[in-house]
Amino acid sequence: MDLKQLNAFIAIADLKSFSAAAEITGLSQPSLSRQLKQLETDMDVILVDRYHRPLQLTEAGQFFYDKVSAVLTELNTITSMTQRLSAPSTALNIGFVPSVLYGHLPEIIASLKQQSPDIEVNLKDISSYQQVEALKSGEIDIGFGRFAHQDAWIQQILLRHERYLVALPKAHPLAHTKEQRLIDLANNRLILYHQTHLPMSTTATTLKTRKNGTLDNEPVTEPLLHLFAQYGITPLMTTEVSDLQVALGLVAAGEGITLVPASLKTVRTEQISYQRLIHENVTSPIYLHTLKDFVHPKIPNLLTAIYHVYERRGITYRQQKFVSKL
Ligand code: BEZ
Repeated sequence: MDLKQLNAFIAIADLKSFSAAAEITGLSQPSLSRQLKQLETDMDVILVDRYHRPLQLTEAGQFFYDKVSAVLTELNTITSMTQRLSAPSTALNIGFVPSVLYGHLPEIIASLKQQSPDIEVNLKDISSYQQVEALKSGEIDIGFGRFAHQDAWIQQILLRHERYLVALPKAHPLAHTKEQRLIDLANNRLILYHQTHLPMSTTATTLKTRKNGTLDNEPVTEPLLHLFAQYGITPLMTTEVSDLQVALGLVAAGEGITLVPASLKTVRTEQISYQRLIHENVTSPIYLHTLKDFVHPKIPNLLTAIYHVYERRGITYRQQKFVSKL
């Protein structure tokens, strides 16, 4: 068994067609089919049912595919990390979720550049979950996101918890009420904008829903609904939109209310009123993610720049230990 055969098998399994797999791998169809046949002979197992169109994996083939594709992904990660170890990129590639750009990211980058004037920084807007794959593939060296990850390759540092504010249209009866309570907001249309939901395993909060005549306890994975559900509240009406900017656009148009991290409080202030919530634990975390085994040499400087900005701005944070194997 060799890598060529495994890659041929994965391409055939992914594309369910010899001709499409030949095109993607750059092999001829007879050569691709020979690789698969040799793999099956070596293993003494039929992996692909060739009599179905589109092609299907046998039960054993499906098992082998699930396990082997995970191993090949790991192998790609290891290869890319080894290449980076031998020749680290001079540029620092930073992935971030859009909401942190409204906060201190620009000031942090400015502080980093002041410390290290020669540094080249590339910024890439990328969702929290996609940051994990982007770190592994080398597309980014560091990611700032708002969700915790459980991944054997990734180390994360919790930078701080940022409070949520309620965003209300300026003409809303509660627009000037300081210190709002979630229960008082429940009758409004809540605009939801998160594309990434909480993993089921971290959401102990459940809501009763009726399915086929029976009551079910369903985990609440949408982040804003999860905040309400923690207080036993279900908003009366919701609207889902594609991102934070659209959500704030709808609030500005008087279509509903939403909750946003405090750093968004300068957006559309002519039409939107931002008010604090009394609940201290209604917060959104900011995490820094890197690979465990390969830390870009400039990342410790970046962490120093972050803490420097926090101190200058009087932001409460807990300094975290950073494991750098370099
Ligand atoms: C912050 O607002 O705390 C923050 C934003 C971007 C990167 C790191 C921290």
